[in-house]
Amino acid sequence: MDLMNTYKQFPYKMVKGEGNYLIDENGKKYLDLLSGIAVNPLGYGNKKIEDAIIDQVKNLIHASNYFYTEAPLKLAKLLVDNTCFDKVFFSNSGAEANEGAIKLARKYSEMKYDIDRNVIISFTNSFHGRTLATLTATGQDSFHQHFFPLPKGFKYCPFNDIDALVAMIDDSVCAIIIEPIQGEGGINIANKEFLLGLSKLAKEKDILLIFDEVQTGLGRTGNLFAYQGLGIEPDILTSAKALGGGLPLGAFMAKADVASSLVPGDHGSTFGGNPVACAGGCAVLETVLQEGFLNEMNGVAEYFSAKLMELKGKYPIIKEFRGMGLMLGLELNIEGADFVKVAYEAGLIINCTNVRVLRVLPPLTIKKEEIDILIDFLDGELKRRSD
Ligand SMILES: Cc1ncc(COP(=O)(O)O)c(C=O)c1O
Repeated sequence: MDLMNTYKQFPYKMVKGEGNYLIDENGKKYLDLLSGIAVNPLGYGNKKIEDAIIDQVKNLIHASNYFYTEAPLKLAKLLVDNTCFDKVFFSNSGAEANEGAIKLARKYSEMKYDIDRNVIISFTNSFHGRTLATLTATGQDSFHQHFFPLPKGFKYCPFNDIDALVAMIDDSVCAIIIEPIQGEGGINIANKEFLLGLSKLAKEKDILLIFDEVQTGLGRTGNLFAYQGLGIEPDILTSAKALGGGLPLGAFMAKADVASSLVPGDHGSTFGGNPVACAGGCAVLETVLQEGFLNEMNGVAEYFSAKLMELKGKYPIIKEFRGMGLMLGLELNIEGADFVKVAYEAGLIINCTNVRVLRVLPPLTIKKEEIDILIDFLDGELKRRSD
């Protein structure tokens, strides 16, 4: 293999996707309950996404950000019209979106205060990306190892601990970055009182609140973005993963007074906002925003949660069930890696994160019958391991 050894890859080569299934080179079908790590919101072979991408490819693949093109303008408008934000910057990935958000927060603070007000607070068990700044913002030591020295200006606060946050705020802090539900950290939900307290504190001190919705965004938690179900408005929001309908696309969005801190020359990306990825993104947004789409998804998500709760009641090997919408996790009392391996053999794609948490991030188009296939599998495996 000529690829660098950075992923623990499974020995299956995927060649096709159909509905909510991936198909390998031997024709074996896998029910994909991970959707390319929260990327394929409408499963595989979605006609609207495919047509949008193909049309765009035929017209124009790339023109550079020296020029306007139609797809990014349309996607930015869809995002602005359906969120509390006024301006959008497109990147290629989640890490790059967070990098941009960090730069924006620092520039805003520098213009209004001074250069020593630049610290970003993030939370334990968070995950914000693999570039050096986002790796540093990631509140998990294991990701930092081997890559010192890390950039300065980051502090970590225990998740869901408002007193610790209050104690940590001083004149050096310019922004707080938080995932409303920590994905890689193990499906840890920020509790509502904590988020309300955090938002109030940030407003009082003019500290910018950055919501990292790279994993929670685009309908996964039941609203277009998770903040919309919380009654608070962040100053900056980052998105990626599902945003491009399978193509590499990220974004950071901000309210006008914050966004205006950036001027030509401050930030950029050669491929960011590529018309083909943005055409895919428009197809995703138009679908997710269709009347009834999220309602129907929420009904299926409730069914999924109820089934997982039933398993939790049945098997003490499950320590906790956590989740919202279609972002679900079962924390086990044992390590989860072997479950994932056996699931693959059985034709089911799930994931284990933070050692003991079985994570499920299915396409938003998952059907109840498909959920039942996973539940039957888990029931059998949990029983076998409990006997
Ligand atoms: C919450 C969150 N932020 C940022 C990232 C980084 O995104 P990317 O891998 O597209 O750089 C991820 C990826 O898993 C994520 O879950």
